[in-house]
Formats: sequence, C-alpha cells, structure tokens
Amino acid sequence: NTYLVVMAGGIGSRFWPFSRTNNPKQFHDVLGVGKSMLRLTVDRFAGICPPENVFVVTNRDYTELVQKHLPELQPDQILGEPIGRNTAPCIAYASYRIAQRDPNATIIVTPADHAVLKEDVFQDVIRQAVGAAQQNNVLITLGIQPSRPDTGYGYIQYMDEQKLGDTNLRKVKTFTEKPNLELAQMFVDSGDFLWNSGLFVWRADVIVQAFHQYLSDIAEVFDDGLPQLGTAQEEEFINEAYSRCRNISIDYGVMEKADNVYVLPADFGWSDLGTWDSLHRMGHHDADGNVVDGDAILYDTKECVIKTPSERLVVVQGLEGYIVAEYDNVLLICKRTEEQRVKDFVADVKSKK
Ligand code: GDD
Ligand code: MG
Repeated sequence: NTYLVVMAGGIGSRFWPFSRTNNPKQFHDVLGVGKSMLRLTVDRFAGICPPENVFVVTNRDYTELVQKHLPELQPDQILGEPIGRNTAPCIAYASYRIAQRDPNATIIVTPADHAVLKEDVFQDVIRQAVGAAQQNNVLITLGIQPSRPDTGYGYIQYMDEQKLGDTNLRKVKTFTEKPNLELAQMFVDSGDFLWNSGLFVWRADVIVQAFHQYLSDIAEVFDDGLPQLGTAQEEEFINEAYSRCRNISIDYGVMEKADNVYVLPADFGWSDLGTWDSLHRMGHHDADGNVVDGDAILYDTKECVIKTPSERLVVVQGLEGYIVAEYDNVLLICKRTEEQRVKDFVADVKSKK
C-alpha cells in the first residue's frame, strides 16, 4: 500500500506579504493557475496513491484551511500539530501513524510548496522510487541537477557506479544540508552533486528504524504508542509529544547521517517556490523579463515580479529588478537581489504591531 504525507506546516515567510501567518503560501494560487499549491501537490499523485491514504501534516491553526482546500479528505487524515518543530517530528508523527496501520506501507513524503512542470515524468519517477522502496531497506530522495549555488538546498554527492539492483537509484556518498555559498559553488562546479528535492520515499518500518538510529530522542517520544486516530487522547498525546521534541529537520537529523540513503536523479521541471525570486524564475516572462500577475501597465520596467490584487490597477515606471507585491493591505517594494531580507521585514512589522 502506498501512502502520501504532505508537509504543509510552514509559514512561508520569505513570500510575505503574499504568504501570511493566518494564510500561508501553500493555500495560495502562487502560480496563477487557479489552484492552490496544496491542491496542486495532492493532484500530482493522482493514480499513485488513493485519496484515503493521503495524510496532511499541518499546524492545528490550519486544519480547517486544509479541509477547505482538500474536501475529499476525512478529518482524521489531517494531522494537526500544536507547534511547528520542523520536518523531523512532522515526519515521525505521520510515519508512526501509518506504521501503526500498515508496517509495510510505502510512504511518499512531499513538501507543499513545489512546482512540477513535467507531471508525466514526475509520476514515472515516483513509481520507480516506490517500487525500489518496497523491495529494499533504503531511504530514497529524488535528486535534481543544480543550476546555481543556492544555499537554501541540500546537496547530494552520489556514487555513479553504485546502482541499487537494476534500478536507476544511486548510493549517496555525502548529504550536505544548506552549505555556505563557497561550498555550494564548489559542489555545483564539480558536477558531482545533485540538489535534494525534499521529496522522499521509504517504507514505514525503514523510516521508523532510522528514527531509532539517528533521532532516538524523537523515536522514544512516539514509541510510547499513539492513541487511536482522531480521538481526544490523540490530541493530548501529541501536545505532550511535541513539547518533548526538539526542532530539527529530517535533512539534518536523518539524511545527513544515514548510510542507506539512495538518490534517484530526475528531471521533471522542478522548482521550490520558496521565494519571490523563484516565482520570477518560474513564471511567464514578458518581452522585458517581467513576471506579472495582476492588472499592470509598465513603462521602462524590466526584470520585475509584480503580483497584485485583481481589483488594483498598478502603473509602474522605470523599475528594474524589483518585487512589487500587494496582498491584504500590505504593499512590498523590494529589490529582487535583497529578497532574503523579506524575513527580517516581517519580523520588524510584527514587533511594531
Ligand atoms: N507540518 C509541518 N510542520 N510542515 C513543515 C514544518 C513543520 O514544522 N516545517 C516545514 N514544513 C513543511 C514546509 O511547509 C515545506 O512544505 C516542507 O515542510 C519543507 O520545509 P522548508 O522549510 O520549505 O524546507 P527548505 O526548503 O528550507 O529545505 C528542504 O527542501 C529543499 C528543497 O526545497 C530540505 O529538504 C532541503 O534539503 C531541500 O533542498
Ligand atoms: Mg522549501
């Protein structure tokens, strides 16, 4: 049986003001295609994983929003977290939950903020990974050819000659989460590295075993036994569990350390829509390199990303390489090259209120 775990608990603060604490980016139609990122994410797995095997892990504040975006889910398929503790506890919660039902289940873990252009290739790659995970005690990640020294990603060095059976999976030699720029540049220049897509495939028993081995403090918390799904006892158990879990990502906690990690190199038109610049890279460009979603008249304006409410007419003159974004009474105008500061702006705005 194949299960899908959607990690949808992030607040997407680098996408402010579009992404807000009360309505983060996974619930927005970031690409302007008429579907939210969350809806697009689940639809991408149609035919691979039946709807009753989909679990979404999110903050309890967002469970209603998830239900609204994915009306086909039963309430007990939405796992609410009392606090965000990053991806390791999130994956532990869902994995223990699934292992309890079906220890031999194969689990696909996906972020909720990615774009995939080639859906057919994507489905084919996922099927290959699921097949390999069913038959081997391995932790699989999908790897993407890097195109720039982005420090926001994990970098995977793999052994080209060490294939897993007759699959296209390669044994991972090193996994380096979020290197500094110098290191990232070296990785890209060497040509031996792939980006970690953040999409993982493994069997329930294999990931539970990995938690015991590499994050035993988190395993211990969940080993106490989850009460029955959807009960008040479950909520109580999870409150206690999350207060005991430290904040750590699966990348730092497991993927960097484990020795049974395999990567499936893949090219399915992948992009992490984490920042305004990623939208600029991904979106449809006009003749001057602008990506515009909204009603805008531009003069002498180049390489900008403009995203504004449909009822607003925006007239821009003489801007080059800027983000112009308005949402819910907040307007941001920021140089594209300075976009990493958006997180700080959000913090400042919050502290002033
Ligand atoms: N439920 C839940 N709870 N979800 C979470 C939490 C949490 O506490 N924290 C993050 N998420 C969700 C986010 O919403 C996102 O969909 C996904 O988990 C990944 O988290 P990010 O915070 O976006 O991770 P990242 O982009 O910095 O890094 C990861 O993804 C990169 C590729 O996009 C890593 O796996 C990198 O190695 C990878 O290259
Ligand atoms: Mg991300």
